[in-house]
Amino acid sequence: MLRFADYRDLKALEELETVCFREHRYRAEFLEWILKNPRTASLVWVESGTIAGSVMILLENGQSRILSVAVHPSRQRNGIGRRLMDAAERVARERGATVARLEVSTQNAPAIALYKGLGYRTEGVLPGYYSWGEDAYSMRKTLEPNS
Ligand SMILES: CC(C)(COP(=O)(O)OP(=O)(O)OC[C@H]1O[C@@H](n2cnc3c(N)ncnc32)[C@H](O)[C@@H]1OP(=O)(O)O)[C@@H](O)C(=O)NCCC(=O)NCCS
Repeated sequence: MLRFADYRDLKALEELETVCFREHRYRAEFLEWILKNPRTASLVWVESGTIAGSVMILLENGQSRILSVAVHPSRQRNGIGRRLMDAAERVARERGATVARLEVSTQNAPAIALYKGLGYRTEGVLPGYYSWGEDAYSMRKTLEPNS
């Protein structure tokens, strides 16, 4: 089941971030900022009462910036990531965004494959984008109006 996340999900989202991103995870303070910010939207995929995946976007100037997408390792490769990204796009369009943008580590083959499959195009490379030194691809997709 897909639903919007709220502040009560903070602990569960923190746990999901930890298991998915380990030392590169968002800290609780940033997750808290996301959940409280009216310019963001956060969606979760829930199975048997447990959050199996999440996506968070920031909406600014007609653009949707994907801040995070994560699926629990035990539930990956079941179409949850794609469903979350589709839902995030729908919400972004509803809130007036015409473009979606994201950054992804050049080393993150699963995520790059997910984004390419959804129609994201690489705009360029951002050398040393991450604090731990990895390069990122900057990717972009034009959002067609909701049908
Ligand atoms: C990236 C991530 C969100 C994908 O979620 P998922 O639920 O496993 O993805 P889906 O099952 O919806 O897969 C959709 C498509 O993505 C691609 N994909 C996903 N995982 C892949 C993998 N391990 N290897 C290659 N391609 C992969 C495939 O094209 C797949 O389509 P297919 O299954 O029909 O071949 C998940 O691997 C994850 O949480 N990774 C850790 C966190 C992370 O890196 N997030 C992105 C940060 S930018």
